[in-house]
Amino acid sequence: MALEPSTLSSLAETYGTPLYVYDAARLRQQYTALHRYFTWPNFRVLYAMKANYNAAILALLRDLGAWLDTVSPAEVILAQRLGYTADRMLYTANNMTNDEVTHVHETGILLNIGSLSRLDRYGRQFPGSRVCLRFNPDVVAGAHAKIRTGGDLTKFGILMDDADQVVDIARRHRLRIVGLHEHTGSGIAETQAFYDSIDNLLALASPERFPDLEFIDFGGGFKVPYHPDEAPVDYKKMGARISDRFADFCDQYGRKLALYIEPGKFMVAECGYMLVTVNTLKINRTRKIAGVDSGFPQLIRPMFYDAYHHIANLSNPDGMADCYDICGNICETGDRFAEQRMLPEVREGDILAIENAGAYCYTMGGVYNLRAMPAEVLVDSDNGRHELVRRRLSNEELIDQILGESTL
Ligand code: LLP
Repeated sequence: MALEPSTLSSLAETYGTPLYVYDAARLRQQYTALHRYFTWPNFRVLYAMKANYNAAILALLRDLGAWLDTVSPAEVILAQRLGYTADRMLYTANNMTNDEVTHVHETGILLNIGSLSRLDRYGRQFPGSRVCLRFNPDVVAGAHAKIRTGGDLTKFGILMDDADQVVDIARRHRLRIVGLHEHTGSGIAETQAFYDSIDNLLALASPERFPDLEFIDFGGGFKVPYHPDEAPVDYKKMGARISDRFADFCDQYGRKLALYIEPGKFMVAECGYMLVTVNTLKINRTRKIAGVDSGFPQLIRPMFYDAYHHIANLSNPDGMADCYDICGNICETGDRFAEQRMLPEVREGDILAIENAGAYCYTMGGVYNLRAMPAEVLVDSDNGRHELVRRRLSNEELIDQILGESTL
């Protein structure tokens, strides 16, 4: 289910461009689908809020009962202010400072620790605490080299070879290891990679080694299609298979543990759109360049990961197809949302929708070249309601903010 082009066009007219639009109905659908796919009864979705921490999205997921994967003290504060209690969060920052650890520990949120050194310091500081351990699943998978977290060339997680050392450290400080965690990467298309990571983690999780387990967390990484030709992953099958595997594991372990996952993209990617207006067409010999009113700092995935984002021409859907570079308004050559893309004829004034813009788009955004982030609108395709949920700073406000932070 996608938003209608007419809905998007009218939102662009009402709120102006550039504009982020999120569909609440789609978000609810993704969350509830996971609960159908994973048949294990004690199942939790910890939404990876780094993907999109718009307050309206977090509030919606809070009301649906989601928990959170948090990765910084400020994410924790935001979640707390929006009514998420400590027992609904797991803290999975990496390379945490001592101050950060102290602060998060005092909130009562469970820390997920991914290095021996930090575990030892945590144990010395807070002996007898509950803790979750992040293991590196030793499986390399994900949509791009920059977002593959498994394997020993990355900074993430404790190597499985070090499991015995972990147990020694925990015993020394009487730490109660209540959870085990792994996250393999983002945008993983091969279900086998998930199964391999899960098997690797579960192979470590014996009751002799980890007698206090309450849950196992298999991280995020669930790919959604970005390209129209991409087939969606069969998550119904995968959820059932993982649930069955987990049931077998719990039988061996001797207790029914909780199963957690931490989706970011799966939850929010497809509910989001960035709307832009074409303001300048240029023909460079054979190359047609359509220039729009926002740039890569406001949606960096194409430039940063060579990510494909589908683009629709809302204003001229039946126009003659032609090939375009869709470029932003930033002073860098790489500032392109799409290169040599076939689109219905693009004219100055046309509104384009950049799709799958709900995950890691606004949140990875910035104001390079001093162009403010777009406003964000939440629409509900179930009832047609829409509201501005974050406004765009005016240029004066942007500069007030910068000068307000200046110490001169
Ligand atoms: N859990 C942990 C520990 C993670 O590090 C991540 C993502 C997730 C869960 C959620 O992964 P997801 O389900 O969203 O794939 N900026 C990149 C993605 C970076 C993902 C970082 N960690 C992108 O735009 O593709």
